[in-house]
Amino acid sequence: MGSLGLSPEDRVLVIGATGFVGGRLLPELVKKKIRLRLFVRDPARVVEITALNKDIEVFQGDLVSGMGLKEALRGIHSAYYLVHSIGGKSVFRNAEYAERDGTAARNFISAAGDEELRRIIYLGGLGEKGDNLSEYLGSREEIAAILSSGKPSATILRAAIIIGAGGTSFEMLRYLVERLPVMVCPKWIDSRIQPIAIKDVLAYLVGCLLNPLTAGETFDIGGEEILTYRDMMQLYAEARGLTRRLIFTVPFLTPLLSAYWVDLVTPIASGIAHPLIEGLKNDVVCKDNCIDEFIPIEKTPFKEAVSIALSEKKEGPGVKGS
Ligand SMILES: NC(=O)c1ccc[n+]([C@@H]2O[C@H](COP(=O)([O-])OP(=O)(O)OC[C@H]3O[C@@H](n4cnc5c(N)ncnc54)[C@H](OP(=O)(O)O)[C@@H]3O)[C@@H](O)[C@H]2O)c1
Repeated sequence: MGSLGLSPEDRVLVIGATGFVGGRLLPELVKKKIRLRLFVRDPARVVEITALNKDIEVFQGDLVSGMGLKEALRGIHSAYYLVHSIGGKSVFRNAEYAERDGTAARNFISAAGDEELRRIIYLGGLGEKGDNLSEYLGSREEIAAILSSGKPSATILRAAIIIGAGGTSFEMLRYLVERLPVMVCPKWIDSRIQPIAIKDVLAYLVGCLLNPLTAGETFDIGGEEILTYRDMMQLYAEARGLTRRLIFTVPFLTPLLSAYWVDLVTPIASGIAHPLIEGLKNDVVCKDNCIDEFIPIEKTPFKEAVSIALSEKKEGPGVKGS
């Protein structure tokens, strides 16, 4: 295998460039003068950034069918894998999505096997391992295992809720607080969560690429504060200058019922809300801070992260899907 360190002439592939995290990562990599290639299903979605940066290459394809993957991987040094399937109106498609994501990751690893790809950097979900893991977080873990099973060295980052405009989890929080001064909530709102600002996620993603010592490692990433969803709702309200929300918990609201309730009161479809809520059944907290030894950053406090998100464009995903 060649060097894990990146040289100025090396090219880096971004998969998921049209997504919430991937879309925001592109300008950060451009700032660092990293030569990019994007693997997208619809090239029309990246015209804005490619018009401004003529060196960015765009390859069209699809991970699930495998179309275009081999061509996109040719001559690539490192690849970001920022992909998942989630959504729709039905809450009963989680297994189908997990299956699709598994196929996508296996196709990617198989195509990478014949190429010179040295590194993969993957952002997955934080969650307790074992039987209590939700189906969605289980799928995130499975993808990490598949991506670590190939020839390239994989770096796995695991994050809980990411705070940034357009992120599905953040948009759910935003809609709930904006729309409901009084809430009757299920008990998952008191699980412990370690949210992270999108700014900090991007710093870690870029940092991992630039630091070859992170190759082959798994890191939990999170902000300084461990909060409950209830705390997050109140801090959001404070950052927005709203009155404190009146929140009552009841024992009988299951993740399924909660997802239908979120669908009813916000534009977040139940098929998106369900895996997010299920993921909060258990605590989602970093088990260590090892990442600090490799990429020391000043972590953004939760309320500041919310204020930044509020100052950004308002519309995000989470619209009711098909
Ligand atoms: N958002 C959060 O709060 C959060 C928290 C923790 C971890 N994460 C992790 O971060 C990663 C990225 O999440 P995100 O929020 O950025 O997701 P996202 O906004 O839904 O973006 C997903 C990306 O995956 C691409 N994709 C899906 N299926 C594909 C396929 N078959 N072939 C090629 N591309 C495909 C999508 O392309 P299209 O645009 O063509 O659909 C899109 O670019 C995920 O692994 C997620 O688990 C996110």
